[in-house]
Amino acid sequence: MLRVLIIGLLLFWLCAGLGHVEGLAYYTEKPSYIESCRINEPDFTNCSTRSIQGFLNEVIKGIPEIEKSFGPIDPMRQDQLIFKQDNSDVDNISANLTNLVIRGFGKVVVKESRVNKTDFSWAEKIYLPRLRMDGNYKMVGRILLVPLNGGGSLFIEIDDVDIEMDTKTRLYEKGGYTFFNVTDVHVKLQMGRLRTNLENLFNGRNKELEERTNQFFNDNWQDFYEAMRPLIVETLERTLLDLLKKMFNVMPANFFVEDIPNSLLLYGRKTRLVS
Ligand SMILES: *[C@@H]1O[C@H](CO)[C@@H](O)[C@H](O)[C@H]1NC(C)=O
Ligand SMILES: *[C@@H]1O[C@H](CO)[C@@H](O)[C@H](O)[C@H]1NC(C)=O
Ligand SMILES: *[C@@H]1O[C@H](CO)[C@@H](O)[C@H](O)[C@H]1NC(C)=O
Ligand SMILES: *[C@@H]1O[C@H](CO)[C@@H](O)[C@H](O)[C@H]1NC(C)=O
Ligand SMILES: *[C@@H]1O[C@H](CO)[C@@H](O)[C@H](O)[C@H]1NC(C)=O
Repeated sequence: MLRVLIIGLLLFWLCAGLGHVEGLAYYTEKPSYIESCRINEPDFTNCSTRSIQGFLNEVIKGIPEIEKSFGPIDPMRQDQLIFKQDNSDVDNISANLTNLVIRGFGKVVVKESRVNKTDFSWAEKIYLPRLRMDGNYKMVGRILLVPLNGGGSLFIEIDDVDIEMDTKTRLYEKGGYTFFNVTDVHVKLQMGRLRTNLENLFNGRNKELEERTNQFFNDNWQDFYEAMRPLIVETLERTLLDLLKKMFNVMPANFFVEDIPNSLLLYGRKTRLVS
């Protein structure tokens, strides 16, 4: 029975053009939805933008090798986030978020995808018509000078989100291919509008004050965003790092950048330059 299963799996991997290293499957044949680009050609950035959009569209539909490790993209789940900000008198928050559900990545638009020819880091511009986070929170502190001590469910919904994403990578070799190891993601956000609601803000002691406070946060959403920015940015950075790592662990960098250098040559040459 076990042998049949293993042979079945092997056949599946062979048919799907997948390699296999340390329990992790990866593609050894370029799927048709990925457009290959050459970094030394003048239209590389346009090509790369289309290529990454094509890959993301497929990831959103569901690529089994990525879904297995990451789960679905929209809605996506994150377990827990612990968050502290006490750098100002206005905002001073200690918060725990659990059961986070993030919606909106199903409609991601890649506006620009640049790859640095020297260190193969990326500068991406992406757009989401709407991003929504739902979760449970526990919070102690102050937002916009309002003292808070409560816990319950919360949502933060943002329209027209422009995300600038700086991504560090380290190339490595696997099965004769060069891969991106995505090691760091930094995001900057710009948005059209933010809406929020925090239930049970004062531990349910004052419903009317809770409503008025939420109204205040919504009326002053730019300031509310500034207060919550580390939380929102950290959630996005963590989520995107996890997702990009898993996406590029299964798909060779050669499929995106045909003329990418072998990592041993790239870093070897750098070492020699330094010495
Ligand atoms: C890239 O696309 C933009 C917008 O479609 C276009 O204006 C530009 O000429 C293109 N660049 C190259 C090098 O093809
Ligand atoms: C923030 O709150 C914590 C705990 O309530 C307190 O120890 C800290 O001094 C406060 N920080 C600021 C900048 O007010
Ligand atoms: C590319 O990376 C190198 C090395 O990290 C850096 O010096 C250079 O400024 C980067 N180029 C661009 C266009 O960002
Ligand atoms: C959040 O969780 C941490 C670690 O579990 C805990 O130390 C902290 O007190 C919690 N903060 C709140 C506001 O519940
Ligand atoms: C990717 O980078 C991380 C450090 O950010 C490292 O721990 C990990 O071993 C690297 N993975 C590969 C396959 O090189």
